[in-house]
Amino acid sequence: MGEVPVALNNEVSCSNDDGAVAGALWQFGKRSGGKRGNHPRALAGQKQQREQHGGTHESERSMVGQMTTVDEPDGPLPDRVLSRPLADIARETTIDPRVPALVPGFDAPFFQTGLAGYSDAPMRLMARRHGCPFCVTEALLDRTLISGGKGRTREDPDLLAEQCGTGDLEENRAAGLEDHPIAGQLMGTQPEEMARGAEILLDFGYEVVDLNFACPVKKVKRRNRGGHFLAHPEEAIAVFKAVRQVVPDKVPITVKLRRAWDDTDAMTAAFHEVFDAIYDMGAAWATVHCRTVEQRYKGPGRWSFLTELRAQHPDRLFFGSGDIWTAQDVFAMLDVTGVTGVSVARGCIGNPWIFRQCRQMMAGEAPTEPTLAEQRDVLLEHLRLSTELHGERGASKMMRKFGIRFAKHHPEGNRVKADFIACDSRAAWHRVLEAHYPTDQISIPT
Ligand SMILES: Cc1cc2nc3c(=O)[nH]c(=O)nc-3n(C[C@H](O)[C@H](O)[C@H](O)COP(=O)(O)O)c2cc1C
Repeated sequence: MGEVPVALNNEVSCSNDDGAVAGALWQFGKRSGGKRGNHPRALAGQKQQREQHGGTHESERSMVGQMTTVDEPDGPLPDRVLSRPLADIARETTIDPRVPALVPGFDAPFFQTGLAGYSDAPMRLMARRHGCPFCVTEALLDRTLISGGKGRTREDPDLLAEQCGTGDLEENRAAGLEDHPIAGQLMGTQPEEMARGAEILLDFGYEVVDLNFACPVKKVKRRNRGGHFLAHPEEAIAVFKAVRQVVPDKVPITVKLRRAWDDTDAMTAAFHEVFDAIYDMGAAWATVHCRTVEQRYKGPGRWSFLTELRAQHPDRLFFGSGDIWTAQDVFAMLDVTGVTGVSVARGCIGNPWIFRQCRQMMAGEAPTEPTLAEQRDVLLEHLRLSTELHGERGASKMMRKFGIRFAKHHPEGNRVKADFIACDSRAAWHRVLEAHYPTDQISIPT
């Protein structure tokens, strides 16, 4: 027996019996009753985790599911066969030098993706302070940019902002010098408007322009944006061409894709048409979410699609997205698929430590869970930044969403989560922090 990575629900640890084994089977526990982690090895891992951290996370996980798109996968994740022990993979991982050559400072093969309704400047800054080398804004509607932000509600008075991102401009302005390097993500329909939107993003000081050809929200599809382009390659090509014409050569243009509109042969061919064309026209890289547009977030991402794409295009830079919940997932995806790097999405909401853990693993260290003191510090700082940006009421609303996720790290997650949800003011937040993350240093504002 060699090293068999053991699934720990949200973690994988490696138990090394005799040193070396290639082809280790790495498998998350099969879900039963909607839960992940019931595989015998996963259960062993849970026990180990409880022993290590002095509490169970099981009850927290059973509360999740109310927010299906931002929580754990809704079914079993497929087996993943690693080439060698995960710790070795992580330690030997480097960034393709072409990436920092294009975007100075992008020095590790992972980044925080755009997450509509979440990835505002405070979330990005917390990620960066824990080792995230690069961030993308949530998708910004070109017309919103062109109209200075005020036209957003007139343009799109629906769930779009919440679900797929036409976030307020102010929330996505690079939050000072610390929030770099950064890509501004554009979503729209018409080539000329997308080009104008790109120019505005450059004025904001973003280093990269990212085009969203992936968003699956119905409203977006009906308005011929986002994932719509994967069913209409000629329109995607026209948009890319228009944007490339106005963006100086030295500024990378990247594209967010899904693996196709749906699973038909015609749509697979359409994906490849778009994928090939954007590189021919000078795209720096694509990030490919390995679910279809029709699939939205249902079921597991198809990592094998990324593996096949790498085999077809050994030299292209491209990033993978889909089912990255832990630092271990980052290195597993790199190994299994051969992608240039990994886009971290739902796995980093309320979990900036995932980036620290990736850095630790690359340094050959064991990834550490955040202590309660570290959690308190991050929550306080996230709240402070959010209050600066959104005001007290807005921050409470934002932080409730994050609190649900942050609470998962707490040994009494259910209670903490319920208390976070009830918070409606800065003072209430501080009281909850004082109650659950004890320290003398927390002062309650009057
Ligand atoms: C709530 C939410 C908002 C998202 N917003 C964006 C977005 O604005 N831009 C984008 O490119 N992708 C967006 N995505 C997609 C993610 O970047 C990512 O591709 C997807 O969640 C798959 O990765 P995961 O399974 O690891 O979460 C969003 C996903 C979620 C769940």
